[in-house]
Amino acid sequence: MSDLSRFDPVWRAAEPYMRARKNDVHIPLSFDWCQRLLDGHPEADADICALAILLHDIGWYAVDQADIIEQGFRSENFLQSDVRYLHEREGVRLGTEVLHQTGWSQPVIDAVCEIIDGHDTRPDPHHLNDRIVRDADKLWRFDVPGIAIASDWFGKTPHGYAEHLQNSLDKLETDLGRMLATQTLARSRRALKLHVL
Ligand SMILES: [Fe+2]
Ligand SMILES: [Fe+2]
Repeated sequence: MSDLSRFDPVWRAAEPYMRARKNDVHIPLSFDWCQRLLDGHPEADADICALAILLHDIGWYAVDQADIIEQGFRSENFLQSDVRYLHEREGVRLGTEVLHQTGWSQPVIDAVCEIIDGHDTRPDPHHLNDRIVRDADKLWRFDVPGIAIASDWFGKTPHGYAEHLQNSLDKLETDLGRMLATQTLARSRRALKLHVL
């Protein structure tokens, strides 16, 4: 794995925006999943993917926390809710600031922002970098911390949320992402005793 310390200044610059909606758990975990996906996809652009996953959700910082849960998770068609579009737009705005501040080139900023803008609402991903970021964004939820946190967001039990995850395996974009999600969910089911609970 490459030296990831080159992203430390970006983590520092984005830190103020990491305290919304458990971003400070979701983003580091998804960043690690992104590295695993990149190990299996050397043809993807590692910098673009890493920066996009690091910054994709910082726009939640600009959204009222109660609205995030009510509209962003529990409303009908929540993936197309106003707050979803708002967090993408704000993510592009804040992400651009952070990347300028930390010295990344304009072509990198453009490529990262293209992925951030529409990462939840765009029906079809544009290319491999986009697909890797999407899978990294989802994979953390299959592990125990993701089930613990996201089941609360959706108002479900861990068991109910694991069923939802099982039914969403076909939404993973890459074969590697689907394999990792399947293995991780099986491990989480055992750890959380979901055959009884
Ligand atoms: Fe998002
Ligand atoms: Fe996310």
